[in-house]
Amino acid sequence: MDQIAIIGGSHLEGDIPISGAKNSAIKLMAASLLTDEPLRLTNMPRLADTRFLGNLLRRLGTELTETNGPDGPQTVLHTPEIVSAFAPYDLVRQMRASFNVLGPLLARTGHAKVSLPGGCAIGARPVDLHLKALEALGAHIDLNEGYVYAQAPRGLRGATITFPFVSVGATEHAMLAAVLARGETILMHAAREPEIVDLADCLNVMGARIEGAGTPVIRIVGVERLNGATHAVTPDRIETGTYALAAAMAGGEVRLTNTRADLIESLLLKMEEAGVEVERRNDGLTIRRNGSRLRAVEVETDPYPGFATDLQAQFMALMTVADGESVVRETIFENRFMHVPELARLGADITVSGGEARIRGVDFLQGAPVMATDLRASVSLVIAALAARGETIVNRVYHLDRGFERLEEKLSACGAKVRRLKGHMEAEN
Ligand code: UD1
Repeated sequence: MDQIAIIGGSHLEGDIPISGAKNSAIKLMAASLLTDEPLRLTNMPRLADTRFLGNLLRRLGTELTETNGPDGPQTVLHTPEIVSAFAPYDLVRQMRASFNVLGPLLARTGHAKVSLPGGCAIGARPVDLHLKALEALGAHIDLNEGYVYAQAPRGLRGATITFPFVSVGATEHAMLAAVLARGETILMHAAREPEIVDLADCLNVMGARIEGAGTPVIRIVGVERLNGATHAVTPDRIETGTYALAAAMAGGEVRLTNTRADLIESLLLKMEEAGVEVERRNDGLTIRRNGSRLRAVEVETDPYPGFATDLQAQFMALMTVADGESVVRETIFENRFMHVPELARLGADITVSGGEARIRGVDFLQGAPVMATDLRASVSLVIAALAARGETIVNRVYHLDRGFERLEEKLSACGAKVRRLKGHMEAEN
């Protein structure tokens, strides 16, 4: 199993290019099942998660071609025919968002058998809202032996669906099914994340009729068929925020390119409150910190445009060395503080009570062996290590590889001392 070794203390200077958004790319890949024509996705991230989903799509009948052209990494997905509407447990288990093939399979073929994704490290993560949305669109759903059996032999029909609370996954899933339903669908209390807008933009180029994405009410007029298209994946806001926080933690000056500041405005405001200098540019943003001590600030995670739960662990890493006590409240997932004991191994002073963590800033962190527990938690350890004295070894790097493309390369290019130890035995810790 690979490890990442980081020697802290170097300032970061340089440019970091941001990749396409993982959380968009995997839903766009699922959208390709809705048409028998090729969907060309540009600005594609190359990650373990996109690979997992690619493997599942091939089983369902998708021809998948990856190229690295002058316009960057592209993937063409072409499913002339659905050869199987079955998504087995083994493949869905590897990556939760694989579950989102259910809606497109159902919409295109009228039936699907897809494994329930099960819980995951950060919480129970149920899919009841996804299933209710599909039922509202006329699907007949049975659960048996861990599988969802969905049927709509005479096709889906439009409906008004009011979500009881914001769910990104359920909003996307309802969109993926409703685009081919008969008549009009209205999604009330819909998620407003940039990935929702990206999915709607892509589906609209494919011939769908979706209005209101990015607002709480999305209106979809079903169409008979969708066509092929070319679409550029939106920049990854979580990767953007993560490198912004890495730069703030290490100090120095880093330009984040191929991204947009407005994607992470709630984070940038908090970083400025903490004393980090942020310059918003047309083609990205620049983060500066000259070595002065940061101030402790409070954050609470919320659906977009609020503070992203996917940036909570990384922000907490920054607060471990701020002046004073900061409070981080997690309102989206019930078990998303697994990075806390690992940060404590580096010398952080954090107490957790329910969904709230109190972080008392320490003068410095000290490198140590630590263990990655989930995707975003693992990168918070990398951020902490950038400012820690001595060496930190992060074990179980496969979590990082799910969502961060060429992390060690991007950080090293700015002067960080980060290297990957290939296939190393896991250290006891
Ligand atoms: C969530 C995050 C998203 C992040 C992703 C990966 C929010 C609102 N969503 O999206 O920003 O990128 O995790 O970390 O911040 N829920 C149910 N039933 C359902 C679906 C969801 O109870 O059928 C609950 C979840 O357990 C959670 C909340 O609703 O407490 C929001 O979940 P949802 O937005 O659907 O999760 P993801 O799509 O995974």
